[in-house]
Amino acid sequence: MHAEAIDKDKIPAHVAIIMDGNGRWAKSKGFMTRIKGHENGVEALRNATTACAELGVKYLTVYAFSTENWSRPKMEVNALMRLLVGALSNELDTLMKNNIRLQAIGELASLPNDCFRQLHDVIDVTKNNTHMTLTLALSYSSKTEIISAVKSIAKEVEAGTLSADAIDEKVFASHLYTKDMPDPDLLIRTSGEYRISNYLLWQIAYAELHFTNKLWPDFTKEDLYLAIVDYQHRERRFGKTGEQLKVN
Ligand code: IPE
Ligand code: IPE
Ligand code: MG
Repeated sequence: MHAEAIDKDKIPAHVAIIMDGNGRWAKSKGFMTRIKGHENGVEALRNATTACAELGVKYLTVYAFSTENWSRPKMEVNALMRLLVGALSNELDTLMKNNIRLQAIGELASLPNDCFRQLHDVIDVTKNNTHMTLTLALSYSSKTEIISAVKSIAKEVEAGTLSADAIDEKVFASHLYTKDMPDPDLLIRTSGEYRISNYLLWQIAYAELHFTNKLWPDFTKEDLYLAIVDYQHRERRFGKTGEQLKVN
């Protein structure tokens, strides 16, 4: 699939990716540890990021580490955190060159201190970049995000600054980590798994879903183009009939 096949007038504003299959990739290549898969996943992320920026995608949000991933063997968790620190400093150039702002969502306070610091450094250095926003979901759980939104709304009601009747979708969304972003238009999951794994449950209410068997380290720019062309062939009806869409 080439970039020319893409309709430049129908680029999704927000693409979300569940980057899955690093461990299986390492195993299939005969590596002794799953870590090699994560290492090679960094390059796939760089390719997907620059491809999205070139196409004019405004938001790319990637699932890098779930809350549930903390229960993996300590060695793997440590390696992932080390890799994150390294990638953040190595990729700063790419982010600056492409005018990309970095953000992170999740329970960031659970990250090891050096990761947390490094992450905030890169967020700070890139904060005025305007071409695209890359958001890392780190120590992320959508259910936790929703509960924390509910708690902060409840506190406002308790304090008398918000009436219960005023709670609507807009108010609720404004309490999520993703409050400053539009909802994803397209969600991609690699590695042949057909599940959401606690990712952006509220936000993907009307996202188009694209699943591919490719393992994340093998995911190329062409695979991204394929996902976008697939998305462009969908009819997004938002509850209406196909006929209604043709009239408007
Ligand atoms: C995705 O790959 C990366 C993370 C979850 C951190 P996996 O590590 O889940 O790889 P598989 O799914 O076991 O192959
Ligand atoms: C989802 O992948 C989380 C990330 C990609 C970071 P997992 O590999 O953890 O998901 P499950 O456990 O297979 O659902
Ligand atoms: Mg996995």
